[in-house]
Formats: sequence, structure tokens, C-alpha cells
Amino acid sequence: MEIILRDPRLPIIKTNRLLIRDIQIDDISEEYIAWLNNPEVNKYLELRFERQTREKVEAYVISKLNDTSASKHFGVYDKDGSRLVGTVTLPSIKWRHLSSDISFVIGHPEAQGKGYATEAVHGVVYYCFKHCGLQKLWAGYYDGHVGSAKVLAKNGFKEEGRLVKELINYTGKRVDHVLVGLLADDFVPNEKLLGIGV
Ligand SMILES: CC(C)(COP(=O)(O)OP(=O)(O)OC[C@H]1O[C@@H](n2cnc3c(N)ncnc32)[C@H](O)[C@@H]1OP(=O)(O)O)[C@@H](O)C(=O)NCCC(=O)NCCS
Repeated sequence: MEIILRDPRLPIIKTNRLLIRDIQIDDISEEYIAWLNNPEVNKYLELRFERQTREKVEAYVISKLNDTSASKHFGVYDKDGSRLVGTVTLPSIKWRHLSSDISFVIGHPEAQGKGYATEAVHGVVYYCFKHCGLQKLWAGYYDGHVGSAKVLAKNGFKEEGRLVKELINYTGKRVDHVLVGLLADDFVPNEKLLGIGV
């Protein structure tokens, strides 16, 4: 595990197999835009409601590069940091409360099912608690989204509540919005995910 701090830029976080850092304009490949638009990838994401174009993705990435305090949008790279396969985002940090929501995608079809989401979330959670001073993280997902539920549970997040039938899922069914959370005091760093040196 290695964290290279680069304030005000996002740090470089190296976990066991992944490199996690900001997304630069040059990183926005056609492959990346394609998986954002892939219904299998975005069916549980709010971005499915709007087709993603290069212009939209670039504008979003630039806005995130320009303000790394209010939110933090990390790219997740495998193959020695060369291939963008996903993202982990703190969409709206509340610095007054030292808390934030967290969301994630492993969108590259060849990168799913390898434990990358679990590892990438673990790296960002470690950075949030150990370097940023955040005390609380939470996430929300569509009830029935087994992948998200498992990734969050494996990172120590526990269910704290549900907004009953708050969301309409991709089949048109109303489902609960499941809310899970984790306190800094309850976080247990896992060397198998982060690599030695934690
Ligand atoms: C859901 C997602 C993040 C999982 O990424 P991943 O890197 O494949 O996940 P991991 O390999 O770390 O899997 C962790 C566990 O979840 C399970 N899992 C992952 N995706 C799953 C799916 N679609 N259905 C059922 N189980 C799934 C894995 O089998 C693994 O279980 P195990 O520990 O019992 O073996 C990824 O498929 C994705 O980004 N999907 C689209 C976007 C999305 O839904 N993001 C979350 C929004 S809250």
C-alpha cells in the first residue's frame, strides 16, 4: 500500500493490484464512454437516464479536477496503472460533519468479477479515514443489487436504514433504497486488499 499525496490534486493510491488516481482528459477513451452507456453497467446508476457523450464526460471530469475538496472522483486503473476500468467517487463531502457518501463502478467488461470493486473501495475508504480525517462514510443502492451489497459488506459497511420503495429499478419495479454506513473507528484495513505496508 502506498499513498502519494499531491494536494490540491487527488493522491495516487496504490493497492494490491490497482492504481487509483484522478481522471485526466487523456484517460477518457472511447472504451470508457462505451461502458458508461452500456445498459449492463449503468442499470443501477443514475447516469443511465442521460446518454453520455465525450463532451458531457469531459465537462464532468474537468469540473471534478477543478474542485477536489467538495467531491473526489477517482479513476481505478489496472495493468500497472495503464487501463481505466472503473471509478470510485465521493460525490458530496460534508466537511463540517466529516462525512461523505461513496459510490463506485467497475465498468470495463474484462475487469468485472476480479474483486476490483472491493479492493478499490477499500483503498479509497482507507485514504478517507486515515488521510482526510473523515469519520463517516455511507452508500445507497437499489435493493436487489447483489454486487453493490457484497462490495460494501466486504468493506465493513452495515445496513442503517431503508427508504421504502423510493427507487424505480431498471425493470420498472419500485424497490427500497438501501442505506449502509461505516464509521472510521470500525474500519479494519485488510492487507490482502491494500498490499503490505498498511
Ligand atoms: C457491482 C460492481 C461494482 C461489482 O464490481 P466487481 O469488481 O465485479 O466486484 P467484486 O469482484 O469486488 O465482487 C464482490 C462480490 O460481489 C459479487 N458480485 C459482483 N457483481 C455481482 C453481480 N452483478 N451479481 C451478483 N454478485 C456480484 C462477487 O461475486 C463477489 O462476491 P464474493 O465475494 O461472494 O465472491 C460492478 O459490476 C459494477 O460497477 N456494476 C455497474 C455499476 C454499479 O452498479 N455500481 C454500484 C452502484 S451503487
